[in-house]
Amino acid sequence: MTAFSPHFLDELRARVPIEDVIGKRVKLIRRGREYVGLSPFQKEKSPSFTVVPDKGFYHDFSSGEHGDVITFVMKIEGLTFPEAVERLAAMAGMEIPTDTPEERERELRRRTLHEVLEAACVHFQKMLRMPEGKPGLDYLRGRGLTDEIIERFRLGFAPEGGGGLGSALARAGISPDLMREAGLILRPSDGRPGYHYFRDRVMFPIADARGRVIAFGGRTLGPGEPKYLNSPESAVFEKRSVLYGVDLALGPARASGRIVVAEGYMDVITLHQADFDVAVAPLGTALTEEHLRALWKIVPDPVLCLDGDAAGQKAAMRAAERALPMLRPGIGLLFATMPAGEDPDSLIRTKGSAAMDDVLHAALPISEIVWRMETDGRPAETPEERAALEGRLRRQAGRISDPMLRGHFVRAFVERLWPRGETVAIDHLATVARGHPC
Ligand code: UTP
Ligand code: MN
Repeated sequence: MTAFSPHFLDELRARVPIEDVIGKRVKLIRRGREYVGLSPFQKEKSPSFTVVPDKGFYHDFSSGEHGDVITFVMKIEGLTFPEAVERLAAMAGMEIPTDTPEERERELRRRTLHEVLEAACVHFQKMLRMPEGKPGLDYLRGRGLTDEIIERFRLGFAPEGGGGLGSALARAGISPDLMREAGLILRPSDGRPGYHYFRDRVMFPIADARGRVIAFGGRTLGPGEPKYLNSPESAVFEKRSVLYGVDLALGPARASGRIVVAEGYMDVITLHQADFDVAVAPLGTALTEEHLRALWKIVPDPVLCLDGDAAGQKAAMRAAERALPMLRPGIGLLFATMPAGEDPDSLIRTKGSAAMDDVLHAALPISEIVWRMETDGRPAETPEERAALEGRLRRQAGRISDPMLRGHFVRAFVERLWPRGETVAIDHLATVARGHPC
């Protein structure tokens, strides 16, 4: 009997969209944030079977059946729990961790790491309010943050000498090994003494969606390098899948149907302070597939806020290309472009939240971004230029894996290539050719 770790099962549920798995067996129709279809468990004429991707479950009103993606595969395929997990893991290309004493030990360590990081977070918060933390507190206030927002984001300070973090953690019964594993105190293997990873930095705790601290980002107060130092990766911290602020943004985002993806820590915090409490940010990396999957579990149309400069445009292009294959009917991506040289933090501070509101309202859908990407600065006057453009647009649309959606993109692009008058003329010709003169 295999016991899968909760960590592995969470990961599995996150990686295989329930609507895709069920969609292979049941014809699903999107209705708002849910899907409906005819019960696979019982014959029926009107659809009473619903799938709720946000929550990761299905409910069949006709038979009372209810469960998650794993239960569904068990019921439909007549598999045991471990068999269903194996089937889904194979679909997701995930390796199944074997149930060894080592794996159980790792799971235990993950739980312990959360406790270590929580203790460190409390310590850094305390330091911010001590005399040693004054430069940090001054810095944060100097950037316009209120005490309320400093508390809400649990901001802290790590003094130059560590501020007694090591001894505080030791008093809480945390071993040097765990401090190292949590990326807090590093111990060189050559026997030199250990040192604090974060020194003289304002501390931004990074939490998972459940609010558990999984890592820290630390910012220099001055011009030092790197400006932001992130915790090393650990059993609980995988940088590429984290959205900073997601624990705070989750509720408001679900309630309002909106989520805003900014670029940095301070952007997220300033946005929340200005009542855009639906802001999150990756940790200085481009948007990954993991990020997109996580965002779409929250709302159907996340808004990406990008710099107005060339780098921002490049990032938009990369995000669009990454998102295209993952799009589904009703699931999209919006792009909001910041005025050049501004990030949400600077814009809100200099121009106020109304300016930020305008930027968000002007967000464009991914189809428009792709169109602009392919038409910008590339003339399409002659037939051969237009044909080349059509080829590029079709190639982009060809990335979309959902056939119906792909069809809609191709059609929208091709129609747009022809000025209105010409479309009419061609439609007319086609009608004539079919022998139905109008
Ligand atoms: P930016 O350089 O745009 O900084 O980095 P920022 O967010 O505007 O920061 P402030 O306003 O100067 O404080 C964007 C994000 O990239 C990551 C961080 O997550 C940062 O918020 N980053 C940046 C790093 O991880 N390390 C760095 O040295 C710099
Ligand atoms: Mn900034």
